[in-house]
Amino acid sequence: MLLHRGFRLREIRSNHEQKKELLDELEKARVRTESLIVSLPEDKLEVPYHPGGVNPPLWEMGHSAFFYEVFVFNLLDGTPSYDPSMDDLWDSFHVDHKDRWSRDLFPGREETLKYFNTIYDRVAERIKGGGELSDQELYLYRFAIYHQNMHIESLIWCRQTVGYPALWITKVIGLLRASRSAVMCRSRPVAGLLACPVSRNSTRPKTLPLMPRSPPVLR
Ligand SMILES: [Fe+2]
Repeated sequence: MLLHRGFRLREIRSNHEQKKELLDELEKARVRTESLIVSLPEDKLEVPYHPGGVNPPLWEMGHSAFFYEVFVFNLLDGTPSYDPSMDDLWDSFHVDHKDRWSRDLFPGREETLKYFNTIYDRVAERIKGGGELSDQELYLYRFAIYHQNMHIESLIWCRQTVGYPALWITKVIGLLRASRSAVMCRSRPVAGLLACPVSRNSTRPKTLPLMPRSPPVLR
């Protein structure tokens, strides 16, 4: 920010600086989310149903990736989603809160991580590519990243609610970055962290009675 005669003036940043800021924030959100998931063994991902608003950790991850699909790729480019059969299940307006605990409806950890990382890679590539960011693009990228940050808080709240120890994210970030070249949890475990076993739910999700479609506004 620049100060001029007591007024705060909006700093004018270049397109390059705006893209760098977005990429930095996107990567922080990705690493923080991954850390909160891969630091839990498979059985700890099965948190008990909690009617007060806590969500299952893997649903939080899939839902936050889906948000980028709706508000970046679909809205800006008209791109169909990664897996249309999952659209209503990742959408908080279309899946009942209690149904988010139906593990047979959702992919397991490895598959969810693959989905999450695929979408994040695509978002990063979209930010890097193209020319000048439009105001709409800048708004929607920030909107989706801030939404992700809200769900990181929600993941931490979930862990606290079920009594899991706090995660010292700064330590895990170093491990995740060091292992990034090994494609974290996509093909092999992260050194120093828990393994990511093959999904127990490799079959397609069952059909769920869904709520009527409404505008694409997710919570
Ligand atoms: Fe949300």
